[in-house]
Amino acid sequence: MSLKPSDRPIRSFVIRASRATGSQRKALEQHWDTHVIPYEAGLLDFKKHFADTRQLTVEIGFGMGDSLLKMAQADPQSNFLGIEVHRPGVGKLLHGIAQHNLHNLKIMCHDATEVIANCFDPQSVDRLLIFFPDPWPKKRHHKRRIIQAEFVELLATRLAEGGVLHLATDWEAYALHMMEVLENEPTLINWSGAGKYCDSPARPETKFEHRGRRLGHRVWDLVFEKAGS
Ligand SMILES: C[S@@+](CC[C@H](N)C(=O)[O-])C[C@H]1O[C@@H](n2cnc3c(N)ncnc32)[C@H](O)[C@@H]1O
Repeated sequence: MSLKPSDRPIRSFVIRASRATGSQRKALEQHWDTHVIPYEAGLLDFKKHFADTRQLTVEIGFGMGDSLLKMAQADPQSNFLGIEVHRPGVGKLLHGIAQHNLHNLKIMCHDATEVIANCFDPQSVDRLLIFFPDPWPKKRHHKRRIIQAEFVELLATRLAEGGVLHLATDWEAYALHMMEVLENEPTLINWSGAGKYCDSPARPETKFEHRGRRLGHRVWDLVFEKAGS
């Protein structure tokens, strides 16, 4: 039986046709079983996947993974989980993890909206990062933007008290939308003050951002903290 268009879930991504390079394909074959956590619609057992229980940072849509790799290398005392559906990007990050012999960085290759809803306990994540999500600029595509009130409400439940949600975009209209959605989530507090973007965000430059800056794009960062109960 085929799905009617109205039955299809609205996804925030399209699987891009770009092929993996030779080294990405090799990394996907050689390192998938060691560093990719298979998606199951059940809670993750972090003790099974990481050597120690430590602070956990989750990045959604890491793209080619360069900035996530840098963060995990720079902070060996924390655990990192990257969620991405683009296989060449997963291959690139797997290559980096193996090359640097990292034990604190794992990957899930699945729709992050399902991973966040089904795999994490409430208050189990210390930092949630979504850098340069697809802006879906056409009005009829706005429903595909990953930052929506309902998803942000879900993200906020997964953050530990004092945990941080950090978003960045180079698309002004999306930055305004992000600000409106985050400021309307009652459990989140803007680090920079009401309605203000963060001037000095602590994060490496991403690949997508690098391309945008070369084209003269501005960048907006939003850093919000989960309030205590
Ligand atoms: C515009 S790219 C930005 C990549 C990277 N953060 C950067 O700044 O270079 C957005 C990425 O998010 C991924 N993505 C979008 N929706 C996703 C979802 N629901 N689950 C997992 N990944 C998603 C896409 O595959 C894409 O690689």
